Amino acid sequence: MADYSKYIQKEPFTSISKLAVERKVQAFVIGGYVRDLILERPSKDVDFVVVDSGIDFAKELAPLLGKNIEAKYFQNFGTAMIRYKEWELEFVGARKESYRKETRKPIVENGTLGDDQRRRDFTINAMSVSLNQEDFGMLHDPFNGLNDLENKLIRTPLDPDITFSDDPLRMMRAIRFATQLDFKIEQNTFRAISRNKNRISIVSKERVIDELNKIILADKPSTGFKLLDESGLLKNIFPVFTELKGVEIINGKAHKDNFYHTLDVLDNLSKTSNNLWLRWAALLHDIAKPVTKRFDPKAGWTFHSHEFIGAKMVPGIFKKLKLPLNEKMHFVQKMVLLHLRPIVLAQEIVTDSAVRRLLFDAGDDIDELMQLCDADITSKNEAKVKRYMKNFQLVREKLKEVEEKDRIRNWNPPIDGELIMKTFGLKPCKTVGDIKTAIREAILDGKIHNTFEDAYPFMITTGLELGLQIQNQDDTPEAPQQETELEKS
Ligand code: CTP
Repeated sequence: MADYSKYIQKEPFTSISKLAVERKVQAFVIGGYVRDLILERPSKDVDFVVVDSGIDFAKELAPLLGKNIEAKYFQNFGTAMIRYKEWELEFVGARKESYRKETRKPIVENGTLGDDQRRRDFTINAMSVSLNQEDFGMLHDPFNGLNDLENKLIRTPLDPDITFSDDPLRMMRAIRFATQLDFKIEQNTFRAISRNKNRISIVSKERVIDELNKIILADKPSTGFKLLDESGLLKNIFPVFTELKGVEIINGKAHKDNFYHTLDVLDNLSKTSNNLWLRWAALLHDIAKPVTKRFDPKAGWTFHSHEFIGAKMVPGIFKKLKLPLNEKMHFVQKMVLLHLRPIVLAQEIVTDSAVRRLLFDAGDDIDELMQLCDADITSKNEAKVKRYMKNFQLVREKLKEVEEKDRIRNWNPPIDGELIMKTFGLKPCKTVGDIKTAIREAILDGKIHNTFEDAYPFMITTGLELGLQIQNQDDTPEAPQQETELEKS
């Protein structure tokens, strides 16, 4: 039997072991912590199973760990949680559970360690390490999880139809673990996912998206998406994404398979960014290709405006998936909308004004946008990739140069509406907006610099051209910064 005592001869394990001896109850470390210990993936979240009440045990343990330490408990679930230094300790009584068909809520009875291990999701998550005096540090591994860990296999301890039917979220978890750990799902287990895929409908969308986000945040998310697709789960949880699949050929002309292209983009991006929302942008950047796809006998396949339509689709998709409808969503929308802009720039002569407009539209998100666009180059044609990369470099240099000169990134108009109204004796009206827009356009076109000194005379000329009259000619204001200084004195 493998001995893991050296890993648990430290706090908080020693206090837990001591209390178990005193109370004459059996206690074990179980689940993900044991798995990660063996895989050498450090973690501070530990699950304990007590062959007794987990809540009573935790209540007694908390003051032994420290003066202000308390156990939070959830009577309905029979679980308790203690935060101790950087550790999060979960306690549960050993349980026998059976599930009803229509919900995830189990009927719970007290059980033995063996009962508890049997009702867990995978063999690699069912291993436990004893905290008891007689076999401290020994591994209890009734389903040979150690073997599956070595062979990199995800397998259910019981008949997979039972394990998945008990808690259908485990189908997502199987694919998530396979993706995160780069494991295979054992054949029988995988087939059961296909068979039980429709049971995912009884799981809350929040829990499903939690697992999907973990897949998206893995080193190579495509692994998970391919498994979700093969098992049929993807169509149930994220149908619009499966629409990207397939290649159509007309007159011998084929378009690329946008499903696999999107997954390549996501994998590429995952090498350079851990930003979940940028990864979502990668997933959704071509989402409108299926609805905008046309065949033109001359031009071949086109996907006109897929970036606009795609950006419009984002809120609906976020709402359906229960993703946040806040600034994260707006960021994804913006990335989808702008994802072609740097590529178009890189195909043409890179003009200052095009770069200024890109900076204006992307603002502070310009670096993420460039990252997404780098990832979007998935061509197998090396010469083409080289050419794009070279031009992207040029775009990047221009972005830097233009930003240093004109500071467009965090756009702050050099002339505000107040000054326009004061100068021409106007009340708030459309003309004020028109003059502001004219100033902005002149700056973006490079006709004037983004400075007060350039913008002020431009405002005067624009106003006069619109037939306005200057009201306070003798009182040419200073640049806003100096004006504030004067006001202060
Ligand atoms: N578990 C289960 N079925 C679930 C969720 C959890 O059987 N649907 C069991 C597994 O034994 C798992 C343990 O509860 O190891 C703890 O669950 P959780 O903290 O969600 O997962 P971990 O395995 O710890 O992995 P991670 O922290 O990566 O989510």
